[in-house]
Amino acid sequence: VELNVGLLGLGTVGAEVAERLLAKRERMAARTGVDLILRRVLVRDLERPRGIPTELISGQAEDILDDPSVQVVVEVMGGEEPARSYLERAIRSGKHVVTANKVVMAKHGPDLLELAGSKDVDVYFEAAVGGGIPLISTFKVDLIANEIESIAAVINGTTNYMLGRMASAGISFDEAVAEAQAAGYAEADPSADVDGFDAVYKLSILASIAFGARVHPDSVFREGIRAVEPLDFRYARELGYEIKLLAYSARPKGRIEARVHPAMIPLHHPLATVEGAFNAVQITGDLVGDVLLWGQGAGGRPTASAVVGDLLDVAHSIRKGSFNRVAMRFDADPAMLPMAEVRTKAYFRLRALDQPGVLAAVGTVFAEEGVSIASMIQKDSIEEGTAELVFTTHPASDAGLQKARGRIADLDQVKRVCAFLRVV
Ligand SMILES: NC(=O)c1ccc[n+]([C@@H]2O[C@H](COP(=O)([O-])OP(=O)(O)OC[C@H]3O[C@@H](n4cnc5c(N)ncnc54)[C@H](OP(=O)(O)O)[C@@H]3O)[C@@H](O)[C@H]2O)c1
Repeated sequence: VELNVGLLGLGTVGAEVAERLLAKRERMAARTGVDLILRRVLVRDLERPRGIPTELISGQAEDILDDPSVQVVVEVMGGEEPARSYLERAIRSGKHVVTANKVVMAKHGPDLLELAGSKDVDVYFEAAVGGGIPLISTFKVDLIANEIESIAAVINGTTNYMLGRMASAGISFDEAVAEAQAAGYAEADPSADVDGFDAVYKLSILASIAFGARVHPDSVFREGIRAVEPLDFRYARELGYEIKLLAYSARPKGRIEARVHPAMIPLHHPLATVEGAFNAVQITGDLVGDVLLWGQGAGGRPTASAVVGDLLDVAHSIRKGSFNRVAMRFDADPAMLPMAEVRTKAYFRLRALDQPGVLAAVGTVFAEEGVSIASMIQKDSIEEGTAELVFTTHPASDAGLQKARGRIADLDQVKRVCAFLRVV
């Protein structure tokens, strides 16, 4: 089978995709029976030298979208628009699409998938979550017999790298941002990563596929890592935890819970051992139990692995004359569990006057808000006349934890609630 491919974008990911298609064409054809032919590549800047034959390069999307010989459009441009419109146009003209675009898939994935269903074409997006880690196909194919119970993941490499550096080198958030930028992990504007947006997009895609429901990114609870301080890593370690940006989704009693926030994860938990820019996703299914996928969640080559793998899948389904649109129905308006009702354990660090009665006052607030204390440690404070108090709690509703947090901050004897983290 021959498959004519149009590529939108020739950046970090696109260049690796083009390289693999051009350099390994014969080998892939011999191995898979599919001849992937790169027809044309869209870029913005026509002046920049590129490592591929110039006749393949174009500055006009029409050269790909309106070329009837192009059977598959690969979108690796990024951004919401015009990427979404290009994908829609490709689908409407009967082309299969492969995309690495998490923003488009998180916000518009179900619409594109449904449109593709009506046009008898496929939308593949393995690369949109977790780079080269095979996640989408795992849900779509391998775990399809399961009711998925939960997804717990470290899916943002940039923040994982930063938190790792803050833990091991004791550096501040700002220093960690600077290091991550120097290492090429963080953008000039790090907000998408450090404020949790990137992880929210990925979780919304995973939860949508896992639960067959539109889990819109706006309905995912989001808290980034800006408030985590170096001291918290020390206490976390003492208490037996690592601090990670956790992405978690589950469906307790029919309602979908979906949240991204920094969390203390027990040292023995597999997600606690995910180092540097790596990603890991733990999936729990009712038949299979726990499955752990771990690997490079970003980078041109790992991501190209997913993109080219999708292309070969498309080619196979064309050859078989059956498209892989299984299990892509989405509950349009699923019931979501409000964050206030989510129950977690928690960690509080506060600075209080070093006086009698403080513990009693704090304890009363916790009790009144239905929060039961699991442990308390008192530490010397850097500030004269104050003490640093660290509490961990048993599971309590987030509403109760937040009310306690506010009321403790308002106590006369308490100068500041320095940190609040949810605990796994
Ligand atoms: N990089 C990763 O590690 C990674 C991992 C997983 C997923 N992804 C996703 O993959 C996609 C691409 O990421 P990337 O890192 O490869 O991006 P990138 O390096 O910025 O490359 C983007 C490419 O698209 C072209 N482009 C962008 N907007 C365009 C427009 N309006 N018209 C024509 N061409 C346009 C750019 O052209 P010029 O070359 O002319 O500027 C460039 O070649 C994104 O959706 C990203 O989220 C990336």
